[in-house]
Amino acid sequence: MNSFLSIDSVDDVQALVRRGLEMKEGPIGAWNGLGEGRTLGMIFMNPSLRTRLSTQKAGLNLGMNVMVMNAGGGDGWNLEMRPGAVMDGDAAEHIVDAARVISEYCDIVALRSFATLRSREEDRRDPVLSTFARESSVPVVTMESALGHPLQALADMMTIRERYPKGTPRVVLSWAPHPRALPQAVPNSFARWARAMEFDLVVANPQGYDLDDSVLGDVPVMRNQEEAFDGADVIYAKNWSASEPYGEVIERDRSWMIDSDDMARTNNAIFMHCLPVRRNVVVTDGVLDSPRSVVIPQAGNREFSAQVVLASLLEEMA
Ligand code: CP
Repeated sequence: MNSFLSIDSVDDVQALVRRGLEMKEGPIGAWNGLGEGRTLGMIFMNPSLRTRLSTQKAGLNLGMNVMVMNAGGGDGWNLEMRPGAVMDGDAAEHIVDAARVISEYCDIVALRSFATLRSREEDRRDPVLSTFARESSVPVVTMESALGHPLQALADMMTIRERYPKGTPRVVLSWAPHPRALPQAVPNSFARWARAMEFDLVVANPQGYDLDDSVLGDVPVMRNQEEAFDGADVIYAKNWSASEPYGEVIERDRSWMIDSDDMARTNNAIFMHCLPVRRNVVVTDGVLDSPRSVVIPQAGNREFSAQVVLASLLEEMA
């Protein structure tokens, strides 16, 4: 692995999931020579709790020095994103120069930059991540971009495999309501990684919310959430904004919120969500705080998904 930009960066998804779970078994200091003398730079254009802390911890577990910069929060210069721009506006630095300079100080650069949801075409280009991938002189790790959140998806696959070590559990990725328009990065990656794991995946979402064909492949899409839940082993809830019209909220039906009646239709399924979650909008307190909810250990696995990815990149450099 030379960089970690999407599932396409990974040769063997199932082996990476297994190795992440082995690393979790520890001991925690077992790999801290791997990153000795190496520096991880973590650049955030958008907010984060889990990704920031888990990736920083993973770097420290590997013995790396870790630097964190909130580039979108006033710590850095306003960045110009447009190639060939005449920079006579607010932006003082071009992203091309920022990417080149940041990679001078780091052995691995990790980057978070969300979809703008202004233009499907612009988001499909994933301009910030793809610029860093092109201009950086060192490996780049995505910590969520316009198109995907593979560190989250890797942790999600680890979480499912911990509960269903063998076989092909029936997994339902269910859209759920939210007051704001959210990117499709998490469901995109979840669907792609669940397919690579060969899980029995179904997506439930309202009309207008279908994920891209390249993400879905031959995964069935169901409009009836209750029927989708029948016999499920895993319920993965997530809101995402509409695909048509792109990036908007067009469905506010509260019946898509996941409650205990929905979970009662399942095969005693585990409940998953990447967090942060809007309680009693996306999912009821009763489901989120139930014994079948694994959202906290799921978030805990973020440390080991980041650790196995950073370790794989460090091994390539050794
Ligand atoms: N799930 C996730 O990526 O959380 P943060 O946005 O808090 O990092």
